[in-house]
Amino acid sequence: MSSAPSPLDRWYETAGVRGGVRRIFHAETEQGRVFFPHSLVAHLDHPEVKALAPERIREISVRHLYQFLHSTTHLETRVVNGAAEPVANGNTGMHFPSALRMDAFKVYCDEGYHALYSLDLADQIAAVTGIEVPDVDYGGFVTALQDSGRRLLPEDPLLAGQLQAVVFETLITAVLNEVPQDPTVVSTVRDLMRDHAKDEGRHHRFFSAFFLELWARLDRPRRILAARALPAMIRAALDWDVEPVRVSLRLAGLDEDRIEAVITDCYGKDAGISRIQTVSRSTLRLCAQVDAFDLPGAADAFASYGLRAPEDTDD
Ligand SMILES: [Fe+2]
Ligand SMILES: [Fe+2]
Repeated sequence: MSSAPSPLDRWYETAGVRGGVRRIFHAETEQGRVFFPHSLVAHLDHPEVKALAPERIREISVRHLYQFLHSTTHLETRVVNGAAEPVANGNTGMHFPSALRMDAFKVYCDEGYHALYSLDLADQIAAVTGIEVPDVDYGGFVTALQDSGRRLLPEDPLLAGQLQAVVFETLITAVLNEVPQDPTVVSTVRDLMRDHAKDEGRHHRFFSAFFLELWARLDRPRRILAARALPAMIRAALDWDVEPVRVSLRLAGLDEDRIEAVITDCYGKDAGISRIQTVSRSTLRLCAQVDAFDLPGAADAFASYGLRAPEDTDD
């Protein structure tokens, strides 16, 4: 039984699901604000989109928030809770202390609640603004992560699931923290992202520590396969899911040729790679901490996804 302190030790007092408030969207207080930081919506910067009427641009920005919230619900409940469950129930084929298993259940509770309030906010905004949530598959990030696991760890789905959760959980805090500081954004959105980021800060520390525990339980062949799979998973979690963007642009009135031009220009190969390197810095540092880059074929695998070991050692 481990007695090491855990980031979730004060969960009963601090978790959003234990004491948080329901965030309510009020349209009248949000005049002149945007629903998502425009600097983080690549297609809003494209000339074909900029040429649209302001109302269409507002709708695109609202639909981007819907995509963010709905994709989050899929990732949290399917990727994170899919991996937390076997740890919590002791079904990983590895021994983890009961304190760590309870931490996995705390994460499980948190993610269910994050999924609920993400769906709730999208629903509230749709009701107030009249801008419908398009009926598309928001599980594209999950599919991409699952594909990377099937391709690179075909014999080891359990390890693939654990790595997907570690990757996502050490990336999401950086993504969530991009929104709450932006004063141009609707306050309910910022409040919700801040609530989520607080829990995810603890999850980030939990999954960083868990990754070291997991790694310590892997033999060398599993470590080599894991190290080669991690870069694909990082990209799968961060390369934007373009299908909902296509639908959003279609709803805004763009024809198919223009839609494909926007997608290629904004989301084509290596678009946004510098942001991806920045957002994944702590995940990459974690990989470096277990010497993943030194395993055979690993550095090349990272390089082929445009990722490299972080040179700095701060934060
Ligand atoms: Fe979450
Ligand atoms: Fe989380």
